[in-house]
Amino acid sequence: MKIGIYPGSFDPVTLGHLDVISRAMKVFDKLIVAVMVNPNKHFSFTADERVKLIQKAAHGIENIEIVSFDGLLADYAKMRNATAIVKGLRALSDFEYEFQMALTNKKLNPMLDTLFLATSAEYMFLSSSMVKQVASFGGDISAFVPSCILEEIQERLSRNNREPSNKE
Ligand code: PNS
Repeated sequence: MKIGIYPGSFDPVTLGHLDVISRAMKVFDKLIVAVMVNPNKHFSFTADERVKLIQKAAHGIENIEIVSFDGLLADYAKMRNATAIVKGLRALSDFEYEFQMALTNKKLNPMLDTLFLATSAEYMFLSSSMVKQVASFGGDISAFVPSCILEEIQERLSRNNREPSNKE
C-alpha cells in the first residue's frame, strides 16, 4: 500500500491545501495529513482545532487520516510506514526552503522521498498567512477557505484581529 504523508501547519487549512490533498489522493492509496504541533510557534488555532477544521473540510474523502504530530517528520513518517512526503509548491520562492527540507528529511530517513505537486494556478497566491491578514481586517475570505469552515475561521481571526505570524 502506498502511503503519502502531507505535513504542514494548516493554520488554517485553505482551498489550496485541499487542492493538494485531492490531487495527492490520486497518487497514494492512503494519505496522512499531519498537522504540526510546535509549542514554540504561535498559531491562531490549536493543533486539535486545526485537525478538526481539516476533518470537516475533507469530509467525504476516503482513505485519508488527519492527525497531529510532534517531533521530527522523518521519524513520524517512518513510524507510519509512509512512502513519501507530499508538498505543494506555489512559486519559485517556496522552492529553496522546500528543497532544503526535502534533503534534510531524505538524510534523516533515506527511504523517504518528497513529492512536490505544483499548485493549481488559481491558488498560486494563496497562503494561510494571507487568509489571516485579510480576515483580521474584516475582508472576505470566502474564495480562500472551504465554505463549511468559513464562519469558524472568520470568527476566530477577526476576533483576534491578529497579524500573520509566519509564511504558511
Ligand atoms: O506548513 P509549514 O509551516 O510550511 O510546514 C512545515 C513542516 C511542518 C512541514 C515542517 O516544519 C516540519 O516538517 N516540521 C517537523 C520538524 C522536522 O521534522 N524538522 C526537520 C525537517 S526540515
